[in-house]
Amino acid sequence: MDKATVRDVALRGKRVLERVDFNVPQDQDTGAVTDDTRIRASLPTIRYLLDQGAALVLMSHLGRPKGQVNPKYSLRPVAERLSELLGRPVALAPDCVGPEVEAMARALQPGQVLLLENLRFHPEEEANDPAFARQLAALGEIYVNDAFGTAHRAHASTEGVAHDLPAVAGFLMEKELTFLGSALETPERPLVAISGGAKVSDKIATLDRLIDLADAVLIGGGMANTFFKARGLFMGDSLVEDDKLDEARRLMAKAEAAGKRFVLPVDVAVGEKFAADAERTLTTPDAVHEGWRIMDVGPQTILAFGEVLADARTIVWNGTLGVAEFPAFAQGTDALVNLLVERTEAGAITIVGGGDSAAAVEKAGAAEKLTHVSTGGGASMEFLEGRTLPGVAALLDRAAVPEALRPGGAGEA
Ligand code: 3PG
Repeated sequence: MDKATVRDVALRGKRVLERVDFNVPQDQDTGAVTDDTRIRASLPTIRYLLDQGAALVLMSHLGRPKGQVNPKYSLRPVAERLSELLGRPVALAPDCVGPEVEAMARALQPGQVLLLENLRFHPEEEANDPAFARQLAALGEIYVNDAFGTAHRAHASTEGVAHDLPAVAGFLMEKELTFLGSALETPERPLVAISGGAKVSDKIATLDRLIDLADAVLIGGGMANTFFKARGLFMGDSLVEDDKLDEARRLMAKAEAAGKRFVLPVDVAVGEKFAADAERTLTTPDAVHEGWRIMDVGPQTILAFGEVLADARTIVWNGTLGVAEFPAFAQGTDALVNLLVERTEAGAITIVGGGDSAAAVEKAGAAEKLTHVSTGGGASMEFLEGRTLPGVAALLDRAAVPEALRPGGAGEA
């Protein structure tokens, strides 16, 4: 990675303003953090900064409070969880900008941590308002962005503030960019991509790039239905995007012209209603009846995918193979997670995009058994599409770090 990281700057005695992605799932009633993956993933950078003798001002959004103060979206439960994980106090500021917060930030001593209140309580955050970004920047001397999950947003805390402070990546950001980037750009081959999810419209740009870069592309999830229909099959009540049939045909023709394998499910699980208690019935894609909905792939598909994956050296997966929130229709996705664990044990590099696929991996307790599971949902998808993420573009190139800021440089405290 050619972006500067926390290793490239002197940190002792510095007040560091760090953007993290603490947008975590919470219990609806109690507000308790129900999945702390993103908080745990941020610990290596936080610990490093503190160990290096920095004082740390952390900032994040939580949910979508739409520019209004709303106690439901307070970061208090996150501050508590972070404090438990770090084993040291984490003070929560009453706001993210303003004189009181500035005084709290200035009073911080090396090794102390202050978490700002939800950035999205202010509409200026999402508007990337320069004056608001300057108010944030006033809270630190160096800006660290470790919020890969929010790097696709050009907000004041992810982009704007980088114009006002020297801006470098944290370890999580670096890891995400390295794995998701090199997996596609300089992979160990064969590279096999697995793409699922409900809608092909969300995945067109990704599929175009995967067909270009991968040796084989395996398709699952609701979006497979649009490909089936494009091949003339009857889909009953299954989710189909009729306005994307031409795109589906184009993608299949592109794969064929490039000599790339483009593998659709060979069997599917259908239900008679879109509900968790729908009965799971196995059939083939060409035998779907009126009133049936395809909601998962079947076991033959997993076997077929397994054959393609058997000699893959790099595997990139994004999007569930079925309706993973309904246990009866999560079987295909769960079986794929097992396959990926096997392939990882056999030496393949396995990389999972964030969001629903990462949640399926977490649910299976397999996160530590795969090479890399992204913490970014929308961000990992945009990155896989080949788009430049504004939060990454705003960081200093390593070569551009001023001499005085480097470890051992004139600016070291
Ligand atoms: C995410 O969970 O994908 C990120 O935290 C970004 O959140 P957002 O979609 O509300 O901008």
